[in-house]
Amino acid sequence: MSDLLVLGIETSCDETSAAVLHGAHDLRSHVILSQDMHAVYGGVVPELAARAHLQVVDDVVGRALDDAGCMLAELDGIGVTAGPGLIGALLVGVCWAKAAAYASGVPVVGVHHMEAHLFAPHIEDPAAEPPFVALLVSGGHTLLLHATAWGEYRLLGRTRDDAAGEAFDKVARLLGLPYPGGAPLEALATEGDPARYSFPRPLLASSGKPGATEALDFSFSGLKTAVATQVAELEANGGLDAERAHVAASFQAAVNDVLATRAAQAVERTGTGRILVAGGVSANGALRRELRRRHPPEVELFHATPRLSVDNGAMVARTAAFRLLLGESSDLDLSADASLPFPGLRE
Ligand code: KG4
Ligand code: ZN
Repeated sequence: MSDLLVLGIETSCDETSAAVLHGAHDLRSHVILSQDMHAVYGGVVPELAARAHLQVVDDVVGRALDDAGCMLAELDGIGVTAGPGLIGALLVGVCWAKAAAYASGVPVVGVHHMEAHLFAPHIEDPAAEPPFVALLVSGGHTLLLHATAWGEYRLLGRTRDDAAGEAFDKVARLLGLPYPGGAPLEALATEGDPARYSFPRPLLASSGKPGATEALDFSFSGLKTAVATQVAELEANGGLDAERAHVAASFQAAVNDVLATRAAQAVERTGTGRILVAGGVSANGALRRELRRRHPPEVELFHATPRLSVDNGAMVARTAAFRLLLGESSDLDLSADASLPFPGLRE
């Protein structure tokens, strides 16, 4: 890849982030500011998120440019998450990027948030390139893809209801943990017995058969309900405190069993001995260990470090660089789209 200098801006949910990336792997600067006020409400409040992005976007991008020692006009492109995400939050980044592009004459590139997650591991590891099976697990999406090349993706499965991260967040809330709940739930689960409760593994029974062609879909809302029922029962008996860690561990084991089983089925179907896991939930160490345990050593497993697993500007810059090298950029009438289609994704 020739060495483009690209600014990436991410404001799709509750992180305001900007990064300057040179080429594919030389991260010159990276600023991530997480909004913590949503913890009070137990989830992201879209209007508050948009206002908070607006307050800090100038400073976050300014700091990323300063840290990289570069000026807007020196950039080859400005990448910005254009969707999917919260519309008000997305608009803050998109408007900032377009104004900067207009003022500096640098091209702007609207980036798909989930495609950006797919690129994140490659920033740190040049080997994390297609072909691979991709398990994209975040707070808003759960997708299983076969990536044959960058920009060419086949959909193998998606969630029919809650996303994996959403399930972690909802169960964490039931257990009295702060939002976002994935990391605190993982910490609590280390003290628990994953076999204490046998929570359901929805949809797995139907699709694992040899020769099956149906979608390798996910469903997490029934699992969440089963945990809620168990928690209510324990609360009624006064036994919840003693069991919280066991509930957390058993829930996490169920989610990770579903995710790892689906990844294994995707490997079998596609014949691709390479798995990439990305998105916020890929920060879960137990998930990565489960994926490793299910596959022989010759199956390669790629993931990013936690900072690049959650929402960040670096992955947006990396994706924009890929689009720019294809000769693609966006017009200045680029808008945010809360349900932007995944580019290059075939059903
Ligand atoms: O990709 P991301 O930062 O934002 C979205 O695009 O949604 O993912 C956020 C999600 C949250 O649901 C959060 O609870 C989850 O990732 N998460 C985790 C862990 N760290 C973050 N889930 C499980 N285990 C973790 N260690
Ligand atoms: Zn994300």
